[in-house]
Amino acid sequence: MSTTAVGIDIGGTGIKGAIVDIATGELLTDRMKLATPDGGKPDDILDTVLALFDQLGEIGEATPVGVCFPAIIINGCTMSAANVSKKWIGLDAEKLFEAKLGRSIHFVNDADAAGVAEARYGAARDAKGLTILTTLGTGIGSAMLFDGELIPNSELGHLELDGHDAESLASTSAKEKEDLSWKDWAKRLQRYYEHLELLFSPDLILVGGGISKSSEEFLPLLELRTPIKPATLRNNAGIVGAAELASR
Ligand code: BGC
Repeated sequence: MSTTAVGIDIGGTGIKGAIVDIATGELLTDRMKLATPDGGKPDDILDTVLALFDQLGEIGEATPVGVCFPAIIINGCTMSAANVSKKWIGLDAEKLFEAKLGRSIHFVNDADAAGVAEARYGAARDAKGLTILTTLGTGIGSAMLFDGELIPNSELGHLELDGHDAESLASTSAKEKEDLSWKDWAKRLQRYYEHLELLFSPDLILVGGGISKSSEEFLPLLELRTPIKPATLRNNAGIVGAAELASR
């Protein structure tokens, strides 16, 4: 296993990257960030990822590179596109990133990467049984881990809730768009997490995404039988998880 790796996290609004210390999960460089190009089209995102990669400085050929992306990823192909251009659907994205960066990469769903990071370095370390990490952001991402092992592509942000796609009701973007108070947003989160509990009976639920830094505003308002805690790697989780997976 390599001791350092690059992690790149492609999101609906920003593309972030850093070099990661695999033993500790800490970032060894500043976190670089570029805006996701409008429309999130493949060529534009590929160009932005290359620009970000170049900002990280000289990366040795033996250094693994992991890239995470907000879509279902099967055998390196992007099979959905909720908050990026529909042009991604069905693309062999892993190959496209490899050609662009001129090296092999590990390609994974963004929430899955975050879940792996929390399981190894963060709030789900040593967690037994079923952990569900949800990332609240532009959409809702999910990672399911059983005894620390990832069950990939769970996409629980797209569960149907009261006739709607859950992420359109309960994501951070929904809170912002509708200018919901913490209390009103927490009511939606209550419905969402209750539904997760009913379907999966998890042992632990983690809440990640940038908003988890304000978790004291909404987690105490939720009444669930499952322990629910903020994720600890916050906005770095995708970067760290993608790097960790690439280093294996
Ligand atoms: C996508 C997921 C992604 C999540 C968070 C959802 O809309 O379908 O693949 O993990 O957003 O970015």
